[in-house]
Amino acid sequence: MSNPLVLLTHPLPQKWLSLLDNQVRLEIGEEGYAGFSPNLEKYLSEAYGILSLLTAKIDSTLLEQMPQLRVVSNMAVGVDNIDIPACTLRRIPVGHTPDVLTDATADLTLAILLAAARRLPEASLDAKEGRWGTWSPTGWLGADLRRAQLGIVGMGKIGRAVAERARGFGIRLAYASPTKIEGDAAHLPLDELLRISDFISLHCPLNASTRGLIGEKELMLMKESAILVNAARGPVVDSKALLRALTNGWIAAAALDVTDPEPLPPTSPLYKLKNCLIVPHIGSATHGARRRMAEIACENLLAGLAGERLPHCVNPAVYE
Ligand code: DGY
Repeated sequence: MSNPLVLLTHPLPQKWLSLLDNQVRLEIGEEGYAGFSPNLEKYLSEAYGILSLLTAKIDSTLLEQMPQLRVVSNMAVGVDNIDIPACTLRRIPVGHTPDVLTDATADLTLAILLAAARRLPEASLDAKEGRWGTWSPTGWLGADLRRAQLGIVGMGKIGRAVAERARGFGIRLAYASPTKIEGDAAHLPLDELLRISDFISLHCPLNASTRGLIGEKELMLMKESAILVNAARGPVVDSKALLRALTNGWIAAAALDVTDPEPLPPTSPLYKLKNCLIVPHIGSATHGARRRMAEIACENLLAGLAGERLPHCVNPAVYE
């Protein structure tokens, strides 16, 4: 029997995909496309599996063109690019890659929080462009970390890993999350968390209840000295409201690993603001994390093709 056809929506290093050797027939999307590149279209009707990136939209229109599909394996922990109910309805299991990117994402969160708190991009640019005069007692003053209050929105694995790191800096912790966790951090309603926090870090998944969670009202509740960090998903924050907040001094700064839209076009006014640090969705971008994400995506894919339970399935209802 020939190997099942799988669509990989974007090229990945061969060594990350070695689990698939001699197991599947891969058709690979072209570099530069966020979703399914045109060369994949002719294979939709025959493909048994999809190995997707978080940029590939998988909805019922696509699923209708894929009658043979047995598994969708997303190389990401977030699955907001996939219509999960539509997959479940068709009994297609969807895999994702939790745990292996927790440390990398938490590290990056602290990196951009610290960079914004100590105004690193601004200070670095000033030095490079000749604005570093003599040592200045009042130049580039930033926020103190010890005893500052961090408010974590979404206390899942990544939120907890951020908390663990923040403790090392002497930062005080509180969080807003649907469920209370063990530990000494205060569990607060969101509005109260926003009011008391010096730093607010977002780590919730994107879904119907978190889309636009941080809008004008929420930004106005924050301290004028607050720094907002988003390493979750761009649409959790209302971008237009954030622009107003940063321009009008409702909050001091933002540090964004994710934006709405992605990529954020070079014309976005957010890039012009000194108090807005933006990096291109690199939370999980370490050699180890990305390779493990790809390997777990391969494991999920192979299990689905074999009709076995996925090691990391987001819609276990398909097995009921
Ligand atoms: C994920 O896996 O959802 C992350 O956003 C990737 O960095």
